[in-house]
Amino acid sequence: MTKLKIGLFGCGNMGSALALAIGNTFPEIEFFLYTPSQFKAIDLAKKINAKALSTLNEMPRDLNWYIIAFKPQSLEDFNFNFHEKAKLLSVLAGVKISKLQEHFKIKKIARLMPNTPSSIGLGANLLYMDSAFHSDEENELREILKASGKIFKMGSQKDLDLTTAFSGSGPALVFELARIFEEELTIMTQGRVPARDIIAQTFLGSAHLMQSENSFLDLRNQVTSKKGVTHEALKVLVDNDLQGLFNSAFSAAYKRTLELSE
Ligand SMILES: NC(=O)c1ccc[n+]([C@@H]2O[C@H](COP(=O)([O-])OP(=O)(O)OC[C@H]3O[C@@H](n4cnc5c(N)ncnc54)[C@H](OP(=O)(O)O)[C@@H]3O)[C@@H](O)[C@H]2O)c1
Repeated sequence: MTKLKIGLFGCGNMGSALALAIGNTFPEIEFFLYTPSQFKAIDLAKKINAKALSTLNEMPRDLNWYIIAFKPQSLEDFNFNFHEKAKLLSVLAGVKISKLQEHFKIKKIARLMPNTPSSIGLGANLLYMDSAFHSDEENELREILKASGKIFKMGSQKDLDLTTAFSGSGPALVFELARIFEEELTIMTQGRVPARDIIAQTFLGSAHLMQSENSFLDLRNQVTSKKGVTHEALKVLVDNDLQGLFNSAFSAAYKRTLELSE
């Protein structure tokens, strides 16, 4: 990786996760970090090859890439005079490229939907970039982003927005399931077994098996013998329409994505 320079606006959870993954994999990349309260930028700058800026005006206008990683609601208050040829990557959930182009008066804007495993190089990163970018620019960005996990290129912004609830929010849904497993196990055993470790290992092992060629249904069926223990558990979930519940959850998340994009 050549000596690229990246400007990051917003050093919260996602901005820091991305910068850490990229910065640790490619120490030759230099970051310029800006965040209004400064503290998070100063902290992050201690961990990677980066300079924490005190004011927005200190952000250079000739960097290779810029990343915006604040909440979509902060966009209206954020103004930076990008060079007209600047290349910008937005992680703002739901915010369309056309809105960003209008706001920043630049053309080259790509969208990325990372997730929290991106911080450890295991992210499912959704990427959308249109024809404003040359193929060498796309390759460069993909190379940088590989540091944070797998890249899934989306054919449309609609697909990126639809998939966000599954990959971007997905880890929270998985953690919620793990939390429920842990709590139920703790209650049923009255705390006699190491519930957290048992559940974490169960999810870890299952995630590894999911990397095999087998369908998720096959994997499920391998654990489910007729009239067996797992069968009873699954029956309760099916009878109570667990899939319908998830359908409502994903639909609600997509609705919120659309609201944020207005
Ligand atoms: N969290 C996730 O799993 C996830 C997944 C995919 C996408 N995203 C997207 O990532 C974005 C950030 O989410 P997050 O969870 O990282 O939020 P967060 O932890 O609240 O971080 C937001 C950051 O934005 C900074 N900020 C606020 N106003 C700003 C401004 N005017 N200019 C520059 N920076 C500003 C904040 O600065 P201070 O620290 O100074 O307050 C903070 O560092 C969102 O758009 C979200 O849609 C998040």
